[in-house]
Amino acid sequence: MKKALITGINGQDGSYLAELLLEKGYKVYGLMRRKSKVDFGNVKHLKNDIEIIYGDMTDPISLINAMKISQADEVYNLAAQSFVATSWEQPIATAEIDGIGVTNMLEAIRTIKPEARFYQASTSEMFGLVQEIPQKETTPFYPRSPYGVAKLYGHWITKNYRESYGMFACSGILFNHESERRGKEFVTRKITDAVARIKLGLQDPLELGNMDAKRDWGHAKDYVKAMWLMLQQDEADDYVVATGETHKVREFVELAFKHVGIEVQWQGEGVDEIAIDKATGKTVVSVNPKFFRPAEVDILLGSPKKAEEKLGWEREISFEELVKRMILSDLERVKEEA
Ligand code: NAP
Ligand code: GDD
Repeated sequence: MKKALITGINGQDGSYLAELLLEKGYKVYGLMRRKSKVDFGNVKHLKNDIEIIYGDMTDPISLINAMKISQADEVYNLAAQSFVATSWEQPIATAEIDGIGVTNMLEAIRTIKPEARFYQASTSEMFGLVQEIPQKETTPFYPRSPYGVAKLYGHWITKNYRESYGMFACSGILFNHESERRGKEFVTRKITDAVARIKLGLQDPLELGNMDAKRDWGHAKDYVKAMWLMLQQDEADDYVVATGETHKVREFVELAFKHVGIEVQWQGEGVDEIAIDKATGKTVVSVNPKFFRPAEVDILLGSPKKAEEKLGWEREISFEELVKRMILSDLERVKEEA
């Protein structure tokens, strides 16, 4: 039986990856931080199938301990301060968790089980002010947030340990991926949660920031398959995982409202832009400058060519299906809560 250790197991990706590995017959260990209230997040339903090890990416001893206990054959490092906006408010914590934390994990592997295979959750945020469109493995990086900068360190240290020590260490440069389990601070889930509430008459207009930002959005369930595939290859390498499509935040808003039978009409420009419900004339979306970022990533669009050709990876869930799944799940949940 293969053994896997997933850091950040209770996050969005951690939960889908745990499900995938359990299906494949792995023994799954998950690293989680201690909280003041016991909370298994997105893996509540897997509590009896996985083994939780308490630890923190900033505490090297706890990572050595996690390797000792799990003796993992595969380590998936998904733990991170993953919200870009927060990285300006907590730049040091972000660097320690998302940057140095990667070295802590690599050192724990090198000390306890150097032959273990390692996956690092790199990100399209490293492309930031994009130097070419679409972005691929060879595109130069230009991060635009403390989060992007910290992740770039994690990316390079992974490559460095591969080259220095011959470790089987891979980075997946994943573009945005969302799901019904996405945190509500991220724009897609913020939208689907609000649209469900507006539909049920439980919320005032949704306030957003930059609606012109373009993102390459896929579903997390498809993306964790690529992580696993990377660790099954003969050689360690880095791969872009993306859909090859990009959409504006505004398009996501329109589609989410459409799924609940509301057609929106846009009026005004810049911070005065609003969307009204065409049928009632009521304002359903407005702009609040507090959601703009000190530096923005205007467009992300990835080329999944290498992952498709070398890993045989393919995304199965389209953009339209992603939005539909998220809004239907939020509608159901909000109805239940109400
Ligand atoms: P997520 O839902 O925010 O999950 C992050 C996980 O990291 C949570 O379980 C969190 O635990 C844990 N964590 C945070 N700080 C930690 C620390 N100091 N020690 C141990 N655990 C810690 O993020 P996600 O969307 O699943 O993303 C997974 C990984 O992929 C992240 O590294 C993210 O940066 C990267 N990534 C995500 C995307 C995307 O679009 N989703 C794209 C590219 C890369 P708590 O519950 O205790 O906070
Ligand atoms: N969160 C948020 N809230 N974003 C908004 C809002 C709002 O009210 N209004 C507009 N946006 C814009 C942001 O300015 C950004 O351009 C875009 O929506 C997406 O924001 P997020 O959903 O917060 O995601 P992100 O692209 O910054 O980061 C996500 O993807 C990265 C991969 O590219 C995160 O999952 C990162 O962890 C991941 O690395």
